[in-house]
This record gives sequence, structure tokens and C-alpha cells, in this order.
Amino acid sequence: MKVSTLAAAQVGLLNMLPAAAEYVWPSKYDAMEDLLVLQSGYIRHGFFDGVEPCTRSPSPERQTAAEWIRTAFHDMATHDKASGTGGLDASIQFETNRAENAGDAFNGTFGFTNGYYSVRTSAADLIALATVIAVGNCGGPKIPLRVGRVDATEGGVLGVPEPQQDLDTHKRMFAKAGFNTEDMIAMVACGHTMGGVHGKTFPEITENANETNVVHFDSTEATFDRTVATEYLDGTTQNPLVVAHNDTLNSDKRIFAADNNVTMKALASDKKTFQSMCSDILARMIDTVPSTVTLSEPLEPTPLKPYITSFALTNATHITVTGRIRLLTTQERVDDERVTLTYAPRSEPAANATLDTTIVANPATFVLGQSYGIFGELFKWHEFSFAMPASTSIKNFNVTVSRISTGEQTHYDNAGHGYVLDDTVLYQDAQSCRVNTDTTIVAAVRKSVVDAGTPVVAKVARKYNKQGTMVPAFAMEEWNGEVGEVVGDYVFVTMKGTQEGVSFNTHFDLVAGEHTNEYLPMNVMDTRKCAAF
Ligand code: HEM
Ligand SMILES: *[C@@H]1O[C@H](CO)[C@@H](O)[C@H](O)[C@H]1NC(C)=O
Ligand SMILES: *[C@@H]1O[C@H](CO)[C@@H](O)[C@H](O)[C@H]1NC(C)=O
Ligand SMILES: *[C@@H]1O[C@H](CO)[C@@H](O)[C@H](O)[C@H]1NC(C)=O
Ligand SMILES: *[C@@H]1O[C@H](CO)[C@@H](O)[C@H](O)[C@H]1NC(C)=O
Ligand SMILES: *[C@@H]1O[C@H](CO)[C@@H](O)[C@H](O)[C@H]1NC(C)=O
Ligand SMILES: *[C@@H]1O[C@H](CO)[C@@H](O)[C@H](O)[C@H]1NC(C)=O
Ligand SMILES: *[C@@H]1O[C@H](CO)[C@@H](O)[C@H](O)[C@H]1NC(C)=O
Repeated sequence: MKVSTLAAAQVGLLNMLPAAAEYVWPSKYDAMEDLLVLQSGYIRHGFFDGVEPCTRSPSPERQTAAEWIRTAFHDMATHDKASGTGGLDASIQFETNRAENAGDAFNGTFGFTNGYYSVRTSAADLIALATVIAVGNCGGPKIPLRVGRVDATEGGVLGVPEPQQDLDTHKRMFAKAGFNTEDMIAMVACGHTMGGVHGKTFPEITENANETNVVHFDSTEATFDRTVATEYLDGTTQNPLVVAHNDTLNSDKRIFAADNNVTMKALASDKKTFQSMCSDILARMIDTVPSTVTLSEPLEPTPLKPYITSFALTNATHITVTGRIRLLTTQERVDDERVTLTYAPRSEPAANATLDTTIVANPATFVLGQSYGIFGELFKWHEFSFAMPASTSIKNFNVTVSRISTGEQTHYDNAGHGYVLDDTVLYQDAQSCRVNTDTTIVAAVRKSVVDAGTPVVAKVARKYNKQGTMVPAFAMEEWNGEVGEVVGDYVFVTMKGTQEGVSFNTHFDLVAGEHTNEYLPMNVMDTRKCAAF
């Protein structure tokens, strides 16, 4: 719990905390949360760049936001609820040459999401995120994002709905995936509020094979709104899947009327209803996963999140911790908050020694030191770097946020755990290096652990390209540690290996028995000569 020194009623801030399952740092979902909330500003991942503005497209007839939504549907559509197979598992990456997956959308989506793909951010989670960001950035609702999807390693069964199929076939297909008729109507309408049908891909529907031709589903194709439903009901729709001359191809016409227009009337009734119905059905769509997958609770912006950029021996006697605190804040508070850290040493200092365990973080100033999400989130970054004797080291820290104007303090202790730093295996970035593909990872490992004979290994996720899919795969390699020089309480351990293929956005874990230092970025190791300590 976060504890305030003022009574809860006075603070009012406590109300902002999510009631359910409190966040504990570090989380294996941190990387996905970053991609969800850090869209622009000082530190940004810019996932929304692909759909900002919402009309954004690689060529005039295409629309990235629409393609991202269509990708999620086609990937999910072949789920078999009874057997628990298929669903949003990125199997679509192997299925792009199937007739039922005609069009540029699928490889187009991976062309963007690949920039964010890593061992902690599966292609399937990125497809789900893409739907959330596309809808959210185009005027649509905030769809809750759960994560933890696992990527398929091969294509799944056939069975994505196609326009020439009859209503019973479509009902059966949606039912197989776990959706009834009303769900089907809502899902199709909420999808077909964006984008349209391409002459290049479906000339029999558009009756124009020109590759630049596109006929939109509604008159506001770049806005996630209920126009798709209002135009359908008032008879002004140009939706090519409603008004195609060849009635066999009018799947939206059959689907929209499948419950005597009840669902379409609800969707058309007002903005709020449309948004909430679409948020519900699209959340269910992206959360349709194989039964072997367990999804997280919906991600919410973490109120306070530390980022450690370096935790290493800087000389024989001292360890330095460098990092940032990301604070969720408001326009009113953003410049009125100061952040301090208090750390607990791993071992008590000698009686005659003094240890200053309070660290003042500096508000970042470059581009205001602020980052922004697409749902109005505002974050302020507070940066720190402090050295401490290796002999006493660090066990954990807590964070205090103080209001300058009122003196009110709020304490963050990571849901009662403290923000724990395990100093057993430190990653020595400054000594690690890469020359061409020859890579040397250097760790400083506590002498007691090395002396006990605990093997030290680097578990490296190597990314490699595969035939027939744009999405690379990962192979896990273990690079064994070689014990080297003793430096004070630590021993340097060197792990050597070869980085072939794609090194972009790859990571490794350092492991010594039960002690780990995880998800360290490989790309920080530039091509450079190995430097001595
Ligand atoms: C029976 C079910 C469905 C059928 C037969 C169907 C059919 C189609 C067809 C033929 C296109 C044109 C593709 C192109 O020319 O590139 C299309 C586009 C699209 N569909 Fe569907 N669809 C169905 C359900 C859905 C659902 C449930 C969603 C999402 C919730 C969805 C989202 C989209 C989007 C966003 C586009 C526009 C893509 C773009 O502009 O590039 N569709 N659909
Ligand atoms: C397709 O349409 C564009 C724009 O209307 C036109 O310039 C082009 O000549 C057309 N191409 C074909 C093959 O008809
Ligand atoms: C549903 O709405 C469409 C469009 O207004 C209309 O053509 C159709 O007759 C309606 N169907 C039913 C069963 O009400
Ligand atoms: C209408 O579309 C169906 C399905 O593609 C096709 O079999 C049929 O020949 C088409 N009818 C006409 C008149 O083009
Ligand atoms: C080691 O680093 C600490 C912290 O930066 C510094 O105070 C100390 O003087 C350094 N010791 C040597 C021998 O350079
Ligand atoms: C941080 O908070 C936790 C939980 O209250 C506590 O166990 C730990 O000792 C605290 N650490 C420091 C440095 O205050
Ligand atoms: C502190 O005590 C230790 C051990 O008793 C001694 O080695 C060291 O010199 C003392 N340091 C200072 C600053 O007095
Ligand atoms: C998508 O990309 C993969 C890998 O490059 C390729 O094998 C596949 O044919 C592409 N699909 C389409 C429809 O272009």
C-alpha cells in the first residue's frame, strides 16, 4: 500500500489507486505497460505513431488504423472455443497467403509491430495493443488491455469469415469462436466503422479493380464512431458489404439485420452506447486466446514506476545506481512534486561509518521531463544517480513524493515489498562489448556466490528470421560464465557468444543460481572494443 501522512480524506489522492491486485515492481508486464502508456514526450515508445493522425497510411488507399483492427479479427476468428485452440495468437503471421486473408493489412501490421517485438512483448500482445491504440486514437473507447498472449509457432486452421458466405455459415463461425448473433453484429459493426473494401483485393465487391480504389464502410472512415450504424439504418449507407450489386457479397447487410436490427439500433442510439458496446465486444475479441494462455488483469498506468538504467560497480569499492522514477501526475501537480528515495543497505555499516541513504531525484527538464499517453495520462520523470560502498550495498528502496506547496508527503513502498534490488549479479555495461558479432558480457558477481561454486550464465534470446513470416523468432542460448578477476567483494565473470541475425530489441538475463538480473537490453552494447575496468 501507498501510505499518506495525511488522512485519506484530506489527500483525496488515494481514490486514484486501483482497488484490485496492486502492482508490484518489477513486473513481467512492465514492457507492455510502457508501450501502452508512453506515447509521446520526453521518454516515449511512440506505438501510436503508426496511427497518428488516424488517416495515416503507407499509401493513399490504405489506412493503418483499420488494418490493425482487421488483423486482430482475422487472427482471432479461427478460435475454437470447445477445444480451446486458436484465437489471438499471431498465427496470422503464417497465414497471409490464404484467400480468406486477402489484402495488405496483415504483413503491414507486423511491419510496424516488429519494431516493438521482444521476449516480453509477444507478437500476439502487440496485435491486441494495436487494436487498443488504433481504436483509442481514432476517437473510440478505451478498450481494457490484458496481456500475456503466447505466439503460435505455425499456422492454424482455416475459417475466417468471407463475404460470399451465407448468414448461417457466419453465425456458425462466430458461435464456434464463442460469440452469439448479437455479439457477431456488434463486432462486425464496430470493426466496419473504420476503413473499407479495396478494389485491388475485392474487385467483385467494389466493381473497380483499380489498385488505388477503396470504398469506405461509412462516411467517417477515419473516425471510430456510430456513423456505420446510423447510415445503415437511415438508408444512406455506401457500405460496399451492404449495397454491392451482387447480393451474395452483402455480408454486412445480412449480419446487421440478423436480429431484426435490434443491435444496430442500439449501436446507433447514442455515442456513449456505441462506445461502451464496442469496448466490450472488442475487449472480448482481443481476449479470445487459446485455453492454455492466462491473461493478466487489464493494465492500468502504474502510479509510480522505477526504471534502473544502470546498477553496476563503478570502481573497486563502489556501486552506482542510475535510473528514473516515472510518476503519474496531473497538470496541477506536475511541477509541485519532489521525489526522494530512501534505501536500505544490504549490510549494516560499521559503527563508526555514516551512510547517507536519502537520495534526491531531479525532475527531468528536457522537453519538460514529461511523457503522455493517448487517454490523457501525464507522467513526470525524476532522475537519480547515487554511489554507495560495495561493502554495505543496497537491499531495497522506497520513494517519497512531496508536494512543495503543502508539504504533504506520499510514501510508495511497492505494495509493502519495497523496491527490491538484488546486488548479487551486476551487469557491467561499461566492460561489456561487441566486435562485429563477437559479444562479451561482463557481470560482477558477489564473491560469496562464486566461491560457493554457483555457475553464472547469460541466457540470451537470439532473434532470427523465419521463412514465410515477417515475425522473427527467438532461440534461447546459454553463454557460460568464466570466472576472472576479484574486485573487492565481487568477482568479474565473463560470458562470450556470437550475436548473429537480428540484434535489435533483443535481451538477456544474467543468472547465478536463484539470483537473476533480467531483460537486459543487448543493443546497449555497441560495436566497440572491450574496455578494462
Ligand atoms: C462476417 C464477418 C466479416 C466479413 C465477411 C468481413 C469482410 C471484410 C472485407 C471483405 C473487407 C475488405 C478488405 C480489403 O479490401 O482490404 C473488410 C475490411 C475490414 N474489416 Fe471486416 N469482415 C468481417 C468482420 C470484421 C470484424 C469482426 C472486424 C473487426 C472487429 C472487421 C474489421 C475490418 C476492418 C477494420 C476492415 C478495413 C480494413 C482496411 O481498410 O484496410 N471485420 N472486412
Ligand atoms: C487508377 O485510378 C487512378 C486515379 O483515379 C488513375 O490515375 C489510374 O490511371 C487508374 N489506373 C488504372 C489501371 O486504371
Ligand atoms: C433493417 O434495417 C435496414 C436498413 O434500414 C432495412 O432495410 C431492413 O428492412 C431492416 N430489417 C428489419 C428486419 O427490420
Ligand atoms: C456473385 O458472387 C458470387 C460469389 O462470388 C458468384 O458466385 C456469382 O457468380 C456472382 N454473381 C454474379 C451475377 O456475378
Ligand atoms: C570510487 O567511487 C566512489 C563513488 O563515485 C568515489 O567516491 C571514490 O573516490 C572512488 N574510489 C576510487 C579509488 O576512485
Ligand atoms: C520499504 O518499505 C518496506 C515495506 O514497508 C520495508 O520493509 C522496507 O524496510 C522499507 N525500506 C526502506 C529503505 O525504508
Ligand atoms: C572504522 O572502524 C574500522 C573497523 O573497526 C576501521 O578499520 C576503520 O579505519 C574505521 N574508520 C574510520 C573512518 O574511523
Ligand atoms: C508476408 O510476408 C512473408 C514474409 O516475408 C511472406 O512470405 C508472405 O508471402 C507475405 N504475404 C503477403 C500477402 O505478401
